[in-house]
Amino acid sequence: MDGITDEAFRLTQCEIAKPDLIFTEFVSAEGLAHSAVKLFDTLLFSKEERPIIGQLFGKDPDSFYLAAVILCHLGFDGIDINFGCPAKTVTQHGSGASLIDKPELASQIIKSVQKAISDFASSKVTIKDLKLKEKALKVIDRNLIYSSPLVKEGLGEIVIPTISVKTRIGISTDTTDTWIPFLLSHRLDFLTLHGRTLKQGYSGLSDWDAIARAAKLTKKANTPIFGNGDVQSRAQALEYCQKYGVDGVLIGRGAMGNPWAFNDEKPEFKEKFKAMLLHAKNFTQVFPTRRFDPLRRHFLLYVSGHPQAKQLRGEIVKLTSVDQLYALEERITNW
Ligand SMILES: Cc1cc2nc3c(=O)[nH]c(=O)nc-3n(C[C@H](O)[C@H](O)[C@H](O)COP(=O)(O)O)c2cc1C
Repeated sequence: MDGITDEAFRLTQCEIAKPDLIFTEFVSAEGLAHSAVKLFDTLLFSKEERPIIGQLFGKDPDSFYLAAVILCHLGFDGIDINFGCPAKTVTQHGSGASLIDKPELASQIIKSVQKAISDFASSKVTIKDLKLKEKALKVIDRNLIYSSPLVKEGLGEIVIPTISVKTRIGISTDTTDTWIPFLLSHRLDFLTLHGRTLKQGYSGLSDWDAIARAAKLTKKANTPIFGNGDVQSRAQALEYCQKYGVDGVLIGRGAMGNPWAFNDEKPEFKEKFKAMLLHAKNFTQVFPTRRFDPLRRHFLLYVSGHPQAKQLRGEIVKLTSVDQLYALEERITNW
């Protein structure tokens, strides 16, 4: 999730309750192709997170080709294409869920990523062929060293990533009956379906009956499908696999401030505070120069349900460092 599941979040998640599969925030294919070095922070990952999928959004097939080669080079286990984001900033440029309405362009994008993966696998293309700017090559090296110090010594494994699409049920109405078979004709490794339309954004409920219908179509095509939307726990995810015939479930918002969504533990508040500290430490280690403020959003969620949540929230919104978080922990033991 954009702005949420950065490397610090994902590391914390994996240390507490490792999901079976993990995705990066989405990254602009055009941005990567134009050597926007800041975006490479989004692609930092550790081997503890594997299998990890890098997600791309955009609208230009050539940029997707370049971006996909970069993701291959970085050693991602999979490349996911976002045809599901409803944010105006994304859809007004013709990216994300707006591509549900432009199947021809969507098809070109998928084929570009497929070609990138097969060219990379057969060594027809390497990172050097992309003519990226020097600053991009430098940051790519930094990412590789971060992911596995062995990669630089030539001991890293070559991974051939999977290709997948994450999408919604339609633009303003449920069009799964045509959109899903169209996607399936591209022989994807898997598909994720969020049961809302673009128009719905995040309102209403995810339509799991539509997801179940899509699951029947994907079964015929022998393509695994993951359902998504409003699932809060591993137990609920397993129940939904049975009930709606999906092969897996993606949990998004349910994991914010609640990494235990993936193991169904119900920790005491002390444990929750430990998780906040771990998240904060991971954040300052991974992003030492970044401001602390964005973490507060997470912490506010960790403390929800606490009998003194209101008072805690008042303290959290003032935090500017890990040390202050430690100090808060000490103070609240005396509350
Ligand atoms: C703040 C925020 C950022 C998101 N960013 C992404 C993203 O980068 N890529 C993506 O595929 N979905 C993104 N999503 C959508 C979620 O992955 C998920 O499809 C949606 O929230 C429904 O699932 P949930 O109810 O489990 O959260 C985002 C959602 C939110 C709330």
